[in-house]
Amino acid sequence: MEVQQVLHMNWGNGETSYATNSKLQELVINKAKPVVIGSISDLYTTNLPRCLRVADLGCSSGPNTLLVISEIIDAIDETCHQLKLTTPEFQVFLNDLPSNDFNTIFKTLPAFYDQLKKEKGDKFGPCSITGLPGSFYDRLFPTSTIDFLHSSYSLHWLSQGLIEEAKVDSFNLPFYMPSHKELEAVVCEEGSFYLDQLQIFDVNWDGSDDDDDNNKAGFMFDRFISGQKMAKCVRAVAEPMIACHFGETVIDILFNRYMEYVSDHLSKEEGKFVNFVISLKGK
Ligand SMILES: C[S@@+](CC[C@H](N)C(=O)[O-])C[C@H]1O[C@@H](n2cnc3c(N)ncnc32)[C@H](O)[C@@H]1O
Repeated sequence: MEVQQVLHMNWGNGETSYATNSKLQELVINKAKPVVIGSISDLYTTNLPRCLRVADLGCSSGPNTLLVISEIIDAIDETCHQLKLTTPEFQVFLNDLPSNDFNTIFKTLPAFYDQLKKEKGDKFGPCSITGLPGSFYDRLFPTSTIDFLHSSYSLHWLSQGLIEEAKVDSFNLPFYMPSHKELEAVVCEEGSFYLDQLQIFDVNWDGSDDDDDNNKAGFMFDRFISGQKMAKCVRAVAEPMIACHFGETVIDILFNRYMEYVSDHLSKEEGKFVNFVISLKGK
C-alpha cells in the first residue's frame, strides 16, 4: 500500500485522535505566531492584493486546522483597521494528503464563517475556504497564484516510496528532521527564495510550556502523565502507518510500552523538540 494512503493523522475526535492529541503542535503554532503575523502583514501592505490567497500545507484535521487561518485573518483585519484600508477578499486552501479527514474540516466551516461574520461584520471578506487534497511534493497550484504559504509540523514528512516486505527491517517512517544549517543550504541551493527570518526554540515533549510563567505556576511535573501525553501525541500521528504495516493488534501494547519508555527517560532527563520558524521571501 502506498505511504500516501496511510500517512494521515488519527481521524475523528475520539481519545486517540489527532484532534484530541495535538496540544504540542498548537503550542508550536502559538510560539511561531509573531513570525507568521509579521510576515503576512508585511506581505499584505507591500502588495495590497484585492484577494489574498493563502495556503496551509499539511493542515490535518483538528483544532489547529483553522487556528492559523483565523490568526492570519485577524492580523490582516487589524492591519487594515490601522491603515484605514478596506479588507481584502480571502481565498484559503487547506492542503493535506487525500486520506486526511477533510469531511470533519468541512463540517466546521459553517460555524467558522458565522463566527467571522459576528466578529468582523457583514462587510468583511468574503472569505472562502477550500480543501485541496494532494501531496505538497507535487504541483498543487498554477504558477504564482498563492500570496502566502504556511506550513507547521508537516515538512519533515518525506516524499513517498513503497513500504517493502519483511516487517521491522522494511518499516520506514518517511520522516526527516534537518539541522538549521541543512535547512539554510536547501533554501540557498534551490535559489527561488531568500531566508527572511529563522528562529529556533524548543518545547517539552508533553506540550507543556515551561517558558510561560502562567503555566509554570500551575504546572507540576509528573513523569507518568508526561509520558502518557507524549505517547498519545505520537500515537495520534503514527498509528495509521504502524497499524497498516504491523497490524491493528500490536497498537495498544506498543504504545503502552512506549509510554513506559518515555516516562522512564523523563525520570533521567528532559525531552525536548527543537523547532524552526522560517519565513521565506521570493527573490
Ligand atoms: C503533524 S500533522 C500537522 C498538522 C497541523 N499543521 C498542525 O500543526 O497541527 C502533519 C500533517 O502533514 C500531512 N502531510 C505529510 N506529508 C504530506 C504531503 N506530502 N503533502 C501534504 N500533506 C502532507 C499529514 O497528513 C499530516 O496531516
